[in-house]
Amino acid sequence: MRVLVKIGGAQLERPAARAALARAIRAAQAAGHELVLVHGGGDQIRRLSDRLGVVAAYREGLRITDGPTAEIVLQVLGGEVNRTLVRSLQEQGVPAVGLTGADGGTFSVKKHEPDGVDLGFVGEVETVRPALVEHLLAGGWLPVIATVAPRTGDADGPFHNVNADMGAGPLTRALGADALLFLTDTDGVLDAERNTLPELTPADCAALERSGVISAGMIPKVRAALAALGECPAAHVAIVPAAGDDAITAGLAARRGTRFRLAADGAQRAPAPLPRAAAGRAHETPREAHAGDRSDG
Ligand SMILES: Nc1ncnc2c1ncn2[C@@H]1O[C@H](COP(=O)(O)OP(=O)(O)O)[C@@H](O)[C@H]1O
Ligand SMILES: [Mg+2]
Repeated sequence: MRVLVKIGGAQLERPAARAALARAIRAAQAAGHELVLVHGGGDQIRRLSDRLGVVAAYREGLRITDGPTAEIVLQVLGGEVNRTLVRSLQEQGVPAVGLTGADGGTFSVKKHEPDGVDLGFVGEVETVRPALVEHLLAGGWLPVIATVAPRTGDADGPFHNVNADMGAGPLTRALGADALLFLTDTDGVLDAERNTLPELTPADCAALERSGVISAGMIPKVRAALAALGECPAAHVAIVPAAGDDAITAGLAARRGTRFRLAADGAQRAPAPLPRAAAGRAHETPREAHAGDRSDG
């Protein structure tokens, strides 16, 4: 299977966690899966911002990304976080290459303005060109993608900050991936008694949000999972625990975590997915708006 894996900031903080993650990735590749990684790094952005005295500002949960913050986001996500993850993968014997949206024009963004609110340099994916990712996969490399990218048609402006959960869906679709796994620091989506919910429909998610059982970073993640499933109805979309050397294979087998479905009976009632883009060919996918309430998740 072709699998897009979104990695949360918590899995990238400590060397031991990065090594465990790299072993899980190696195990999934050994089982025959073709992987692409997308990562965030909100905690790392916050740390450097604090050190540089750049004051973080939020509006309705979204990080307002002014000029200095946009510089920090590019340097942290496209630099330290991306390169450190690539190094951990290499050390575990996984041939990895780090990319941003600019590399190969892999993706570009338009300004993300929820309800018309100006958040600065916050983007949502507008165009995906998977040619470079396809080329790397064909050569046996693991692409590791930081969700920072230029704005479409803007040659000199700042890179925009894209919430990694929100960016994962458009990439899944453009790559024709069979599965999208959000690796995180819980056992999946938990109910009020903290039991893992094995399956969720859009109606279940709306009820969990209304009742406050889903909060904080789980809100944009669940919304992004549903949006991705809406666009790729045949894909296996799940939020799964990152821990364990079998995290990815267990997530794909639905042995752990929370799987998303469009309907309760398991029938996928949306239209058939687009065919996978031809390998090595630039394929542009226009994007629609996505919901979410953190800009660097
Ligand atoms: N119902 C829920 N089930 C699981 N986690 C939840 C729930 N509601 C809120 N959360 C919080 O969401 C967090 C995961 O989101 P986030 O911190 O953004 O991580 P990531 O780096 O994976 O994006 C969990 O650590 C937990 O604190
Ligand atoms: Mg998050």
